[in-house]
Amino acid sequence: EGLFTYDPGFVSTAACESKITYIDGDKGILLHRGYPIEQLAEHSTYLETCFLLIYGELPLQSELREFEEIIRKHTMVHEQLRNFFNGFRRDAHPMAVMCGVVGALSAFYHDSLDISNERHREIAAFRLISKMPTLAAMSYKYSKGQPFVYPRNSLDYSANFLHMLFGTPCEEAEVNPIIARAMDRIFLLHADHEQNASTSTVRLAGSSGANPFACIAAGIAALWGPAHGGANEAVLNMLQEIGDEKNIDKYIARAKDKDDPFRLMGFGHRVYKNFDPRAKVMKQTCDEVLNELGLEDDPLFKIAKRLEKIALEDEYFVEKKLYPNVDFYSGIILKAIGIPTEMFTVIFATGRTPGWIAHWHEMISGPYRIGRPRQLYTGSDIRDYVAVNQRS
Ligand code: CMC
Repeated sequence: EGLFTYDPGFVSTAACESKITYIDGDKGILLHRGYPIEQLAEHSTYLETCFLLIYGELPLQSELREFEEIIRKHTMVHEQLRNFFNGFRRDAHPMAVMCGVVGALSAFYHDSLDISNERHREIAAFRLISKMPTLAAMSYKYSKGQPFVYPRNSLDYSANFLHMLFGTPCEEAEVNPIIARAMDRIFLLHADHEQNASTSTVRLAGSSGANPFACIAAGIAALWGPAHGGANEAVLNMLQEIGDEKNIDKYIARAKDKDDPFRLMGFGHRVYKNFDPRAKVMKQTCDEVLNELGLEDDPLFKIAKRLEKIALEDEYFVEKKLYPNVDFYSGIILKAIGIPTEMFTVIFATGRTPGWIAHWHEMISGPYRIGRPRQLYTGSDIRDYVAVNQRS
């Protein structure tokens, strides 16, 4: 006893060294490979940021073209994988489906099991980035009882995703470029966030030598919870529950009440005690999308705007530094685009995939040991087994 440092929630323990992402939560700074997230959101694309996260440098023009081409080439999934979907109930949560089908990719690409081979690792990374939107869209189509829509590789990554979601085999979806750009930004702003719960899960799973598809499936499972990636879905459920601007005060009072477990979803962050820089960019995109779709006066979005204002001014939220987070705005954008709430976390998972891969790859490429946290045991002292008929 007393041999180990007790740090529940890992608030003061670094589990690894990393060169990928830097966060200063007090100052509201987020850098990927040294580049500020605001600059990437403004000038880069999701796929370019994927390249940056994985390879450590921004690509040359020719490298970017080649990378985009490779990603395009891998967008289809094995026809046999379609059968997995039929094993799920139509009303299964798409995240439940994703945990299953992404893990199942390891049954299709046996080369990925050899993680000591650098080239195999790279191909697994391409496959994951390419196939996540296809699988995500399939999980949606399955829930609707609609036929799956094959990827259309003449479209950009994010437009292609919207096509697979909203198109049909008979008709290409009409993709508004402003909406496609917003989708790309959502992916980009979710691409990495250093050692959050899901990324740490990917690293821990990977530290045992598990294959990348299994590790990313573990990350998806960890992301699902409402305190992490499930928050964007929870935001919309909360807005719907509030239902009317006149109920807002009641919910604010509940959020402040220590005896009430209710929390304002989409507010607060473990690391950012200042405005999350991703939330700032997302807010701007959110305003653009609502404006483009003429939804500023929609009652649900008016509730969101009122909540945002209250939280930014109210003493409780200001004192505890509970700013609106990235999921608050992404949830609103996705709802405005017409994406059902159950798909929100799936979209987060799709965007986060390059981050998970970059961390997994960084760990596997360097010296690493299996992750094995210790504990402070608080259970019973040693005692003798009692036969079942003699227990009282
Ligand atoms: N509404 C009301 N009060 C809150 C909220 C909230 N959303 N978040 C934190 N608090 C209070 C909390 O009650 C506590 O008060 P006290 O000090 O009086 O006990 C104080 O603020 C600190 O909270 P904490 O739970 O110790 O903070 P944490 O770092 O463990 O949790 C969090 C961070 C994000 C889980 C939490 O703020 C939360 O539950 N927020 C709502 C869910 C959410 O939006 N999550 C998305 C996070 S961003 C995307 C991602 O990382 O995936």
